[in-house]
Amino acid sequence: MTDTTLTGTAAGAIELTDAERQADLDTHQLRRLVGLVDYDDAKDPFPVTGWDAIVFVVGNATQAAHYYMSAWGMTLEAYSGPENGNRDHKAFVLRSGSIRFVLKGGVDPDSPLLDHQRRHGDGVVDIALEVPDVDRCIEHARRSGATVVQEPEDLTDEHGTVRIGAIATYGETRHTLIDRSRYTGPYLPGYVARTSTFAKREGAPKRLFQALDHIVGNVELGKMDEWVAFYNKVMGFVNMAEFIGDDIATDYSALMSKVVANGNHRVKFPLNEPAVAKKKSQIDEYLEFYRGPGAQHLALATNDILRTVDELRANGVEFLATPDSYYEDPELRARIGQVRAPIEELQSRGILVDRDEDGYLLQIFTRPLGDRPTVFFELIERHGSLGFGKGNFKALFEALEREQDIRGNL
Ligand SMILES: [Fe+2]
Repeated sequence: MTDTTLTGTAAGAIELTDAERQADLDTHQLRRLVGLVDYDDAKDPFPVTGWDAIVFVVGNATQAAHYYMSAWGMTLEAYSGPENGNRDHKAFVLRSGSIRFVLKGGVDPDSPLLDHQRRHGDGVVDIALEVPDVDRCIEHARRSGATVVQEPEDLTDEHGTVRIGAIATYGETRHTLIDRSRYTGPYLPGYVARTSTFAKREGAPKRLFQALDHIVGNVELGKMDEWVAFYNKVMGFVNMAEFIGDDIATDYSALMSKVVANGNHRVKFPLNEPAVAKKKSQIDEYLEFYRGPGAQHLALATNDILRTVDELRANGVEFLATPDSYYEDPELRARIGQVRAPIEELQSRGILVDRDEDGYLLQIFTRPLGDRPTVFFELIERHGSLGFGKGNFKALFEALEREQDIRGNL
């Protein structure tokens, strides 16, 4: 090993983001947690450092903020609303580990956020990404045919300046691109630091998840390859090893899925489209109730999925049920081999296991978070595997379909 590697200055070596440093994460943990890889972005036309924030529009941000604190263990750190001059909406900025959620709800009855919520229900409106050079990204995106929805501009307050711009992606979702290297405020100009009086239960863990692993987008039939091409061409994302060409089908419903990722793999986007089958695909159900394409699930990375699931259940979060037959299947037992917890411990919590040539992963999916059968969360604990649980898709889809059937939408 050379001195260069020891000091971590080799081209392409992973650099921690400020958020990761503040969350006490290190590169070793991040390689395991979210499959981070070394990457030299010198020649990348659209270099992306990582996630900046996931912005949700919800029907009642005041109460949603409480839910994300009380059920999901997140911490309130910033706020914007009528009290500090924003008469249109309230916005609560919450954090867990290196990831930030922003929850927005309309205050002014004429707020465009209320129109968005009326049409789509609660959902993700912006998958904001941290980039070192906003102008370079926006210019490349424009030349590659993307729709620029916000031209690059500086936003300044007493904490400094952020450079910000945005491009459109599927449906009414956007990617805001942010360079916050000259900014020390709690979130963005227009926001003030804010904490909550909500007190965690005695003995509760510091946080229930450390980072964001991936966000899945659902798009219309025949559109998946177009969006894969968009991420390849406009944003320089690469196709990941788990690039599923075949239909993922159960007896009733089917879908197609492909995965793209940025150079360092911090940002991973599986993209799904419905496939034709005997009954309505779960993707069709989403598209119907979200009124178009949108973000389907966010995978939250945890380093202790057993404890996280126990805490979340105690806080009232509901998960999809996994049938006992899943754990009793000799083929599954042979395929997954030895994992860090006895299978009975996984079974009692409904946690799924998948293994590939690089290692294994543990995962579980919540029921829909809001009133519509659209957005949900996944919890994922990676042990070497860089996959997305392909081996579990059939078991997962059968569980989803049982619930879809109960809702009368299968
Ligand atoms: Fe996932």
